[in-house]
Amino acid sequence: MSTNSDVSSPTQTARLELPGKDPVQLPVEVGTENEHAVDISKLRSQTGYITLDNGYGNTGSCRSDITYIDGEKGILRHRGYAIEDLAASTTFIETAYMLIWGELPTADQLETMRRLLTEHELLHEGLRHHFEGFPPYGHPMAMLSAMINACSCYHPELLELEDEHHFEEATAKLLSKVRTIAAFSYRKSLGLPIVYPDPKRSYCNNFLHMMFSLPHVPYEPTREEVRALSLFLILHADHEQNCSTATVRMVGSSKANLFASVAAGVCALWGPLHGGANMRVIEMLENINAGDQSVDQVVEQVKKKEYLLWGFGHRVYKNFDPRALILKDAVDKLLEAKGIEDPLLDIAKQLESVATHDDYFLERKLYPNVDFYSGILLRAIGIPVNMFTVMFAIGRMPGWIANWYEVHKDPNGRIYRPRQVYTGPAKRPYVPLEERQ
Ligand code: ACO
Repeated sequence: MSTNSDVSSPTQTARLELPGKDPVQLPVEVGTENEHAVDISKLRSQTGYITLDNGYGNTGSCRSDITYIDGEKGILRHRGYAIEDLAASTTFIETAYMLIWGELPTADQLETMRRLLTEHELLHEGLRHHFEGFPPYGHPMAMLSAMINACSCYHPELLELEDEHHFEEATAKLLSKVRTIAAFSYRKSLGLPIVYPDPKRSYCNNFLHMMFSLPHVPYEPTREEVRALSLFLILHADHEQNCSTATVRMVGSSKANLFASVAAGVCALWGPLHGGANMRVIEMLENINAGDQSVDQVVEQVKKKEYLLWGFGHRVYKNFDPRALILKDAVDKLLEAKGIEDPLLDIAKQLESVATHDDYFLERKLYPNVDFYSGILLRAIGIPVNMFTVMFAIGRMPGWIANWYEVHKDPNGRIYRPRQVYTGPAKRPYVPLEERQ
């Protein structure tokens, strides 16, 4: 089999030769940023062949208007806006609005969104009682996923999103309640009374209040802490077709409702190769800090493939992850503002320095990803390690919602249903129970 894709030609087709078949011309689609994709959607009907792509590293599963990444150049843009600009100038709620609705909000639109978030921040009492069923040692990600799915039961009117108004309401419920659910699950794990949201506080301030206020002592985060949390959420807000977002789209493609689809996304995010890596990074740094392993020993173990360097490597970024650069700077600033030193930050920088000068990592283009420094930022705000991936989920919520809506609105949308190459036994005769050995 030989392929000859002539993507530079203005005809924009690729020619594919397959054994025993006439050559086929496959259309080449070009994205806004001049990315080229060979459209193989008619390949099987024209040739009988399918493509095989382990882990989907070369497969474009959809067209999307939401996020653009150039992994070679370390570029990340949402709806055309550079992540650096969003990080420097917006709040998480502005970024969330822009991801979901396509444009940065006007002052009036932002005010409406804030009002809706406040309106929906409480949990239905029935939903709140679900927390009683979880053991205190239950993982907050399991609770988060279960509780988001349970929202489907309490808001059946939003299962069929008939118009934009319904979608706006479902969006506000999800964005607002996820924060309440996350804080309640933390309080539950400590056996502390639940703190209700305070409508006078901003999104991030309110979350920290629900996490850390005591009945007799309201918690007042500093401006720097609130800003750092907002930045953390912005940097996690979307990342095109990552494992959890692809999951949300996959589930949504069957016409499953928004709550169910996002609950599935939470489960996908939990894995340590994805969002769960932020917990592993801190565990790794804590081990080094405790003297269990040295930086050099960790690097040697990684090179022997006995261990993964958590928070390193990325399917798409092959130069640097712009989010990691912003986070590293933000961690420095937050620690300075708080007047604290974190030994884990020194260890992380040491690890980064050793790894990024070592051939193993250079040859494989492995650099710190978003999870490498994020945990140190969260620690400085007082967020416990077992909540780190939940924090990621709160941040990713707008991206999941925007992607789900894109699938929902697509007039040409089809259920996502990949093919496979079957490698099991060929047809064989059935063996009755009494004859089996
Ligand atoms: N530590 C050690 N080796 C690594 C690492 C790592 N963190 N990441 C990749 N490699 C190695 C692979 O084993 C492979 O080695 P080989 O060529 O000798 O077989 C080589 O680098 C190339 O790997 P990729 O094909 O780039 O990896 P892939 O795209 O399949 O996986 C992933 C990407 C899952 C992020 C991987 O880098 C990893 O496991 N990282 C650690 C976990 C992590 O930090 N995950 C968070 C990612 S960001 C996010 O999801 C929010």
